[in-house]
Amino acid sequence: MHHRPLVVANWKMNGSKTLISDLEIGLGSSVLPSTVDIVLLPPSVYLAEVVMVAQQYGIQCGIQDSYVEEKGAFTGEISAEMVKDVGGEWALIGHSERREYFSEDDDLLARKFEAAVRADLRPILCVGESLEDRAQGRALEVVKKQLNSIADRVGPSFSRATVAYEPIWAIGTDQAATPDQVKDMHIAIRRELEEIDPSNGPQHRLLYGGSMQAANASTLLSIDEVDGGLIGGASLDMGEFLGIIAKAGEQ
Ligand code: 13P
Repeated sequence: MHHRPLVVANWKMNGSKTLISDLEIGLGSSVLPSTVDIVLLPPSVYLAEVVMVAQQYGIQCGIQDSYVEEKGAFTGEISAEMVKDVGGEWALIGHSERREYFSEDDDLLARKFEAAVRADLRPILCVGESLEDRAQGRALEVVKKQLNSIADRVGPSFSRATVAYEPIWAIGTDQAATPDQVKDMHIAIRRELEEIDPSNGPQHRLLYGGSMQAANASTLLSIDEVDGGLIGGASLDMGEFLGIIAKAGEQ
């Protein structure tokens, strides 16, 4: 690990008032490692409430998705500025579920990235290949293209990106990528970031996501090129999530 570890919880469309009390109880009864940065991305309706809990523990929060405009007649949408207004600090951009189920293309993702930066949120850009891409030997090509498509469109603001490598086939499957697969891809992504953004390439934090759990967190987080994790399912179980944070603190 070359940077301060970052553990991010992506609750996806999960969570409830009960999960927020579990969070409060879990955080209140544990000693968080001071060396780990923690970020929570709850569904937007819970963001303000989760911020109130999280800030007592020095934990930051953010949004899983927000729109490109600052305000106006866009029924149902929320803006990055609103996220900032209620204490959010981070924005997830380009998760494979948004790309796939909501047809978000690179043009839209780049605009969302720019909107996040405009509102002074820190974007976490997700990249990752499908099983088919990997089977056809195109994993690296696909991931490089995803990185470059956004970098080309957003220009210098790309320097603000944290990058999360999430192979689609490892998400929600209990089948994390192997340490070799993670290491190879992270080395390749780091090289690409150094080409895209020579002055900041080494500074971007590079997370792994896809079935990270307390049981495999040490193995995945001990890979040199991994600076933390983006956690889905395991972030909904406070024992699991706190377990991952503890492992990150041991790195
Ligand atoms: P899981 O941890 O459930 O595999 O999800 C990973 C993910 O998509 C986080 O954004």
